Amino acid sequence: MPLAKHFYRVFYRLLLLLGFAALLGLIIDQMYLCIGLVLLVLVLWYSYNLIQLSDWLSSKKNLYPPSSNGLWSEIFDGIYRLQKKNRQRRKELGQVLKRFRDGAEALPDAAVVVESSGQIIWCNRLARQLFGLRWPDDNGVLITHLLRYPEFIQHFNLHAQSQTLPEEPVLIPSPTRRDSIIEVRMVPYALGQILILGRDVTQMQRLNQMRKDFIANVSHELRTPLTVLQGYLEMMQDPDMAQALPGTKAVDMMSDQTIRMFSLVNQLLVLSRIEANEENIFEHVVDVPNLMSLIEKEANQLNADKGHKIRFDIHPQVKIFGVEEELRSAFTNLIKNAIRYTPAGGEIDVIWCYCKDKGTACFKVSDNGDGIEEKHLNRLTERFYRVDKARSRATGGSGLGLSIVKHVLAHHKSELEISSVVGEGSRFSFSFPADMVVFEEVSKN
Ligand SMILES: Nc1ncnc2c1ncn2[C@@H]1O[C@H](COP(=O)(O)OP(=O)(O)OP(=O)(O)O)[C@@H](O)[C@H]1O
Ligand SMILES: [Mg+2]
Repeated sequence: MPLAKHFYRVFYRLLLLLGFAALLGLIIDQMYLCIGLVLLVLVLWYSYNLIQLSDWLSSKKNLYPPSSNGLWSEIFDGIYRLQKKNRQRRKELGQVLKRFRDGAEALPDAAVVVESSGQIIWCNRLARQLFGLRWPDDNGVLITHLLRYPEFIQHFNLHAQSQTLPEEPVLIPSPTRRDSIIEVRMVPYALGQILILGRDVTQMQRLNQMRKDFIANVSHELRTPLTVLQGYLEMMQDPDMAQALPGTKAVDMMSDQTIRMFSLVNQLLVLSRIEANEENIFEHVVDVPNLMSLIEKEANQLNADKGHKIRFDIHPQVKIFGVEEELRSAFTNLIKNAIRYTPAGGEIDVIWCYCKDKGTACFKVSDNGDGIEEKHLNRLTERFYRVDKARSRATGGSGLGLSIVKHVLAHHKSELEISSVVGEGSRFSFSFPADMVVFEEVSKN
């Protein structure tokens, strides 16, 4: 209702009351008393309603307004409507805030909002895990007091001084996760605040390092034979030196180095093929006993120089799902290693067995060679890793064999286990889960 209308309504009522009081006063000859009494009643009425209003506004339990009439009832209703609207708005705002918080919590990055001075305003769950922040305990604490890494502090101060955020991220170790590296970025946020985003890049850094190591290793491995070849070729080009060159020895050396390079490139190709192979392992059944008899023949040929006693104990009924070419290269690599690294006249056992209880199939190669020191065991499956580089190279090893085995097994739901005792020998084994095993019952007739 418009203000003027209210005013006139109240004014007329007041005038009417006073007029009525004055009339009554004239009749009983007590005009001032009557007007005074009416005014007193009015004051009491207004006071009563004001007390009711104040009571209602200060009460948290009572949502509904007190009952009254006239203008007071309209005032109460008006306030009630406003309160209702506010409550609804607060509820909506609360929902928006909750949605924002949920979104920020679901971020794949750690997020911390700080003042430009560095005081923490808010952080999400990942920030608590990655940066080790405690919430709400760290509210208002300087971020540079909690992440005390010189690179981080320098990066942060750079912004505080220049008011422009450095584009480049900074790498810091995680205070909570050992060996983890966090990439930290700073983004301008509302009203001079800064949003600090952190992401665990340990895996990426590791892959990057592996890539660099891999290129360095391949170049190094190829450089040695190429240097030998180049040396002989230069000697051949020089007529004086060519005469002094021991003909067959040079050709033998060159041929050895070419074979080395060829085998290295072959191993690399096998490795990359296996890594890229997404073939469904359940498409074909591999006849492992049959495969083993072929591998046994090859092993015996390889063993001609060393004269090891090699025993093959193969379960004839156990086959598995898988990729034959990959499995063959895994089995062969382990057997070749045992032959290669066991001193002449050693004993090698190759076992392919079936575990009836679990339904799993298991492959083991054990030798009684020199064994491998504990510190090397975890690294053996890294590309190009060799316990004794010179010795391994002399026997033609490039350090890729066990890496190939690891990848093949990962593709076949298995894992390589290595145990070794220095001076006693080594054992390389792995088993395939029951769902990959095909056990062929032999008919009794
Ligand atoms: N049975 C074993 N006994 C002792 N040492 C072993 C045995 N098998 C592997 N090793 C050690 O592990 C290293 C890595 O083996 P891996 O098969 O990966 O490479 P490699 O045999 O040197 O080369 P490649 O297999 O590519 O020809 C070897 O260099 C060797 O030092
Ligand atoms: Mg090998």
